[in-house]
Amino acid sequence: MARTPEHWGTRLGVILAVAGSAVGIGNFLRFPGQAAANGGGVFMIPYFCALLLLGLPLCWAEWTMGKVGSRLGVHSCPAILGQVGGHRLWRYVGALGLLMPTVVYLYYVVVESWCLAYAWSYLTGAIDLGADPARFAEQAGTFFTGISGVDADGLMFEGRIHVSVYFWLITVAANFALIYRGVSRGIERFCNIAMPIMLLCAVVVLVRVLTLPPQTDAAGTRTVLDGLGFMWNPKPLHAGESAFAALANPKVWLAAAGQIFFTLSVGFGVIMNYASYLKPHNDVILSGTTASATNEFFEVCLGGLITIPAAFLFLGVAGATAGTFGLGFKTLPIVFEYMPAGRLFGFLWFFMLFLAAITSSLSLLQPVVAFLEESLGIGRRASVAVLAVLTLLGNGFVIYFSKGLAALDHLDFWMAQVGILVFGALEVLLLAWVFGARRGHALALVGAELRPPRWVYTVLMRFVTPAILLVVLGAWCYFNVGDYAQALAEGGVPLYAVAVIVALLVFYLVLVHAGDRQWGPVRTMPQAERERRVPREAQP
Ligand code: ALA
Repeated sequence: MARTPEHWGTRLGVILAVAGSAVGIGNFLRFPGQAAANGGGVFMIPYFCALLLLGLPLCWAEWTMGKVGSRLGVHSCPAILGQVGGHRLWRYVGALGLLMPTVVYLYYVVVESWCLAYAWSYLTGAIDLGADPARFAEQAGTFFTGISGVDADGLMFEGRIHVSVYFWLITVAANFALIYRGVSRGIERFCNIAMPIMLLCAVVVLVRVLTLPPQTDAAGTRTVLDGLGFMWNPKPLHAGESAFAALANPKVWLAAAGQIFFTLSVGFGVIMNYASYLKPHNDVILSGTTASATNEFFEVCLGGLITIPAAFLFLGVAGATAGTFGLGFKTLPIVFEYMPAGRLFGFLWFFMLFLAAITSSLSLLQPVVAFLEESLGIGRRASVAVLAVLTLLGNGFVIYFSKGLAALDHLDFWMAQVGILVFGALEVLLLAWVFGARRGHALALVGAELRPPRWVYTVLMRFVTPAILLVVLGAWCYFNVGDYAQALAEGGVPLYAVAVIVALLVFYLVLVHAGDRQWGPVRTMPQAERERRVPREAQP
């Protein structure tokens, strides 16, 4: 099996890289939209339950499996799952840990390029909503259409190639340049710089939002406290209900579980890959928990205090309920237009979003680069080149089918709603019931600086997390399968998006087969460790 001698440079480096993977567009746009639409403050009850009972255990599971990879010198999801499961079949299951990050990358990087386009437009003054506030919404919509091509399929918009194509190419080049430099010199160094800059930009925008004066329009006067209240006060989902009735609505719990998975980047196979670049005796539990806590700080304390309160202050309820992209790319530009020094704050905001997105998209690419190296026995340069060609084709497809963001939305539906739950469930079942929860705990404790009691780890991994995940998956099917079947029958499903997913899955299964032949039978852990000479003191 090809062995790459890559490792993270420092403990802080790996924590910032994993936190960078987690902190992304989901924290600043998806989370506020989900919270505001699902009961405001009440949403935080299912949200924190999902964090503690699903998100954190899955993080620990992925970090533990990554540790298996680090001890055996393998970094790809199929190789690690094969070893954890002790059977070649698990290598094929690992193809899902390549499919997920690839497909998410295909649309995520497009949104990332919008953030860059907006940041650039604020910097150069190219975004101008005019002088008439009555037309701000229309102008912001037109600007977004020009960037995203949401009105029509194709790469042309009003006789020109739409701007996002150029920004997309720059964004792709930045991603691949960093990935090519490798784990420590590329991803780690970049995250070490990007994370503090993101924090600084977000805090500056937050302070500006929290100190904004009251705003008055035909609907009355609103203060920033009203905006915070709109975001955080418990509120009913339907008129006439009690605020806490939202807790009886399974869709609210589903939304919370989906948000936790997406924001922590669990269930994609990316944390497992990042953790595999640790040294065999490095701590995983404290590092994983710290990275998750950092993500939660960015999500709840920064994401939760900026977007919706600002949108509500200037635009009232209509502005604060515009959905993820509406809020981010149409409402916020109006907010910055009203805000004193809005151009500066607009730039800081979208630049911060771009950095948040790129630290996440890097983590979507690295697992596949590692896999191509290991399965085909090729070097980094060749694997980066293969992945670049593959993803350029896929990205081109997402950009081409831009009408109504149909391709983007459908890929997101399959990956971010269903795929992460399915793969997350498989991961935790594999660790707890095939590898063994006690063995997993012993392995996680090697070098651990935070030591969860064995009963906590094993009860969570064996029973609590899988049971909740299976209920969540069942509920998801109950609410979605009928609607999807109907949409399919009525021709409302973009089949080309489904075809891309299927084609990529087949592609990865074929490559896993090649890898499987090259790697040979799965050796037991002690055998494989002896071959790799893991020091005795690093063994559980
Ligand atoms: N965790 C990343 C985000 O929240 C994917 O955007």
